Amino acid sequence: MHIAVLGTGMVGRAHAGKLAGLGHEVLMGTRDVQATLSRTAPDEMGFPPPGEWLKDNGAVKLDTFAGAAGHGEIVLNALNGEAAETVLRALGESLLGGKILIDITNPLDFSKGRPPTLFVSNTDSLGERIQRALPKTKVVKTLNTLTAFLQVEPRRLAGGDHDIFVSGDDPEAKKTVVALLEEWYGWRRITDLGDITTARGAEMILPLWVRLWGVFQTGLFNFKIVK
Ligand SMILES: NC(=O)c1ccc[n+]([C@@H]2O[C@H](COP(=O)([O-])OP(=O)(O)OC[C@H]3O[C@@H](n4cnc5c(N)ncnc54)[C@H](OP(=O)(O)O)[C@@H]3O)[C@@H](O)[C@H]2O)c1
Repeated sequence: MHIAVLGTGMVGRAHAGKLAGLGHEVLMGTRDVQATLSRTAPDEMGFPPPGEWLKDNGAVKLDTFAGAAGHGEIVLNALNGEAAETVLRALGESLLGGKILIDITNPLDFSKGRPPTLFVSNTDSLGERIQRALPKTKVVKTLNTLTAFLQVEPRRLAGGDHDIFVSGDDPEAKKTVVALLEEWYGWRRITDLGDITTARGAEMILPLWVRLWGVFQTGLFNFKIVK
């Protein structure tokens, strides 16, 4: 499958690396290919610069956001939350219309320091903003509630016995995403929360998630729903 992964951070890398390893043709999108490849410093989390990561993951190709989006039959949104709506609106329906956009972003606002707050919540969400910006694109919010490492490798924790959610307006698109998450990564516990407004709840988990990270000093944990 031709897959676009928009974003070169730890989420984009986790998905692009895993999907290329599964044999998919993955283009990873960035603002400026040359500028991204010329970075030499590790990021603020200590991860290697994108060029170094790409050398170790030779099957993943780097392109502009538009180049990647045009290539993808399915598009993964792993953009910085504050930039996502602007970038996706600029790409527009000519590149994204009719496609499934798997939206992994969180509306984190670090402008007042850490822990971050949410720049949209309660009565709206980033998932909804993106869906409103691209009404012909099938936005499915998912995987934003856990660390990138576990998004693509749920069995690393409790044999995969923990939960994720999907939110979106298009029932068929959600079914497709659920099937892909099962096939690609081995997810088994996926709850369909409902339409895209239910992304509010999935995004509002983040203030709790960052506090748990503070307590555990690791992102390798997830929520398990017990009824
Ligand atoms: N990190 C996690 O484990 C995790 C878990 C769940 C959800 N999330 C969410 O997933 C998303 C990606 O997170 P991340 O940690 O992988 O990376 P990130 O640092 O939040 O975002 C990196 C990407 O955003 C792009 N970007 C940043 N500022 C931009 C701007 N002003 N204009 C255009 N593009 C811009 C970067 O472009 P360049 O390539 O050009 O630098 C890069 O591709 C975020 O929304 C985050 O909240 C993260």
